[in-house]
Amino acid sequence: MITRSFTLAAGAAAILALLAPPAGAQAGAKLKVGLMLPYTGTYAALGTAIENGFRLYLGEQGGKLGGREIEFVKVDDESDPAKATDNVNKLIKRDNVDVVVGTVHSGVAMAMAKVAKDTGTLLIVPNAGADAVTGPMCALNIFRSSFSNWQPGYAMGEVVAKRGHKNVVTITWKYAAGDESVGGFKEAFTKAGGKIAKELTLPFPNVEFQALLTEIAAAKPDAVYTFFAGGGAVKFVKDYAAAGLKGKIPLYGAGFLTDGTLEAQGADAQGLLTTLHYADGLNTPRDNAFRLAYAKSYKLQPDVYAMQGYDAAQMLGIGLAATKGDAGKKAEFAAALRKARIDSPRGPFTLSASHNPVQDIYLREVSGVENKKIDVASKALADPGRGCRM
Ligand code: PHB
Repeated sequence: MITRSFTLAAGAAAILALLAPPAGAQAGAKLKVGLMLPYTGTYAALGTAIENGFRLYLGEQGGKLGGREIEFVKVDDESDPAKATDNVNKLIKRDNVDVVVGTVHSGVAMAMAKVAKDTGTLLIVPNAGADAVTGPMCALNIFRSSFSNWQPGYAMGEVVAKRGHKNVVTITWKYAAGDESVGGFKEAFTKAGGKIAKELTLPFPNVEFQALLTEIAAAKPDAVYTFFAGGGAVKFVKDYAAAGLKGKIPLYGAGFLTDGTLEAQGADAQGLLTTLHYADGLNTPRDNAFRLAYAKSYKLQPDVYAMQGYDAAQMLGIGLAATKGDAGKKAEFAAALRKARIDSPRGPFTLSASHNPVQDIYLREVSGVENKKIDVASKALADPGRGCRM
């Protein structure tokens, strides 16, 4: 008897559960944001800056986006693609997050995009530039607040050609970000008549640069183009100088080479030219307000990663405002972002048809601990979004 009434009650509860709206859509329920970022390893500081930026924007909105309070579930992805599918599945299937925000590393981001596409979960990428995420893997529910790897590389290919260099060696980590950054550079540089003498690589996150620097010295190119970031970028810039190459063979890079790294690179970074969708000294009211607020909150100057995290939160806010806080209304969410002009500290930007920022790429020069804007290398540069069908 006891068993039977228990069964009946359980059956009734199950039916009620089926009739009830999903937990996330209940009025007043918190929106669960899964933050999947590196908190250890060569990209650890980048993950922290992204989270700081995200929380800063949220704080400015009184802790709510689209009328809903936010609850975070965090996972350290360790920039390890081998663990990425399990990590993102945990957030989506075990923790039932409404939206995933992540990550820094392109290989991890591609695994996340695959799961997001398969499950229809909203994904906002606050750094990783993997061209495929807004290329063949593009989807209605996938957005990027940062850049494609192609963008800064392409802009720098034009700059280096214009500066009269003909013969360039490239050096980077052998994974999507390095390959695609060099790919963008090569596309613009060879279109302008330049030649790539050698493409040097080492596995991520290896920092044993010595043998490769010896090869560069022997090859004597007009210039070197590189993609490195985080802890690896700090060491590369120092090793380049220590090998006696600074001042002899001009070094150019995607701006990650010198962003968030200058305190550690010191004299060895002075004068380096890089291209990126953010810079110091923009001196716009929007950027000045962001920088002041960030410095007050974290006792640190913001970098490109902090800005991208801030804009990921802004983008989530724009989408949720249009759906009254319902992350499941994908078409309405996407429609709002597609027509938005996002008021970013970098300068206002729009999204391309494949959901990647269409943005100015600045030419910056290292001076002291700043990446000073010296020019706009490429105005409103749009990633071609090759292979995206939506
Ligand atoms: C990437 O893996 O896409 C990546 C990582 C760090 C950066 C930029 C791009 O600073």
